[in-house]
Amino acid sequence: MRDLSSDMPVTFEGVSLRAGETTILDRLNLSITPGAPTLIVGPNGSGKTSLLRLCMGLVAPSEGRIRWGGRDTASPGRLAMLFQRPVMLRRSVADNVAYGLRHAGLPRRLRKARVEEALSRVGLLELAGRPARRLSGGEQQRVALARALAREPELLLLDEPTASLDPAATRGVEEIVLMAAQSGIKIVMASHDLGQVRRLAGDVMFMVRGRLCERARAADFFDHPSTGEAAAFVNGELVI
Ligand SMILES: Nc1ncnc2c1ncn2[C@@H]1O[C@H](COP(=O)(O)OP(=O)(O)OP(=O)(O)O)[C@@H](O)[C@H]1O
Ligand SMILES: [Mg+2]
Repeated sequence: MRDLSSDMPVTFEGVSLRAGETTILDRLNLSITPGAPTLIVGPNGSGKTSLLRLCMGLVAPSEGRIRWGGRDTASPGRLAMLFQRPVMLRRSVADNVAYGLRHAGLPRRLRKARVEEALSRVGLLELAGRPARRLSGGEQQRVALARALAREPELLLLDEPTASLDPAATRGVEEIVLMAAQSGIKIVMASHDLGQVRRLAGDVMFMVRGRLCERARAADFFDHPSTGEAAAFVNGELVI
């Protein structure tokens, strides 16, 4: 299923995104490289989701260019994205995971083992036969993670995957994310939860009004934020 070419690094060169008169993202220059998770933080409306959608190739920049492994397009199957609210098909948990594999062209005989492996990675093997839409929000988010991981992505983009989960379910998702990162998958994740950012991040991208205000190693972001906005955000004071 994997092809040989890598989509890493993902680089943004002077990337802006506009909708009519509105500038959603403003001249971003950044590069996403393999390593510990990159967490995207910033106030509501600062452009986190838009940045992830561009990374995934779901929308094209209005200006500038994005390169995946030095190429102008992302290779299908190497990237996966999870949204804040998981989208579940009206099928069993196992079928939800298998569905993505079928689309990726994995032969039927290999699918069952891959589905079981992915479900056991997220601790849901015993729920494999249950209707996915009847699961709790936290369980559905884990199914969505299994569906993404089963495709063995090189880069996994996560848009606030724990925003509506309780602390226990949140920790469950965080453990899976860390396990995926340790297995070599690059994670880029938007989050509002500063505790979560401390637990997961290798580095932080801090967005304010569509601009990349600060990019730093996580420890530096929290201990020595280099901008007033970042310091206010870390102290829970930034309201924009
Ligand atoms: N298609 C669009 N047309 C017009 N405005 C848009 C469009 N998509 C996004 N925006 C605007 O761009 C800004 C950034 O949106 P985005 O969803 O990327 O922010 P965010 O940081 O993910 O916010 P949140 O924390 O609330 O999820 C918002 O002001 C939003 O209303
Ligand atoms: Mg968002």
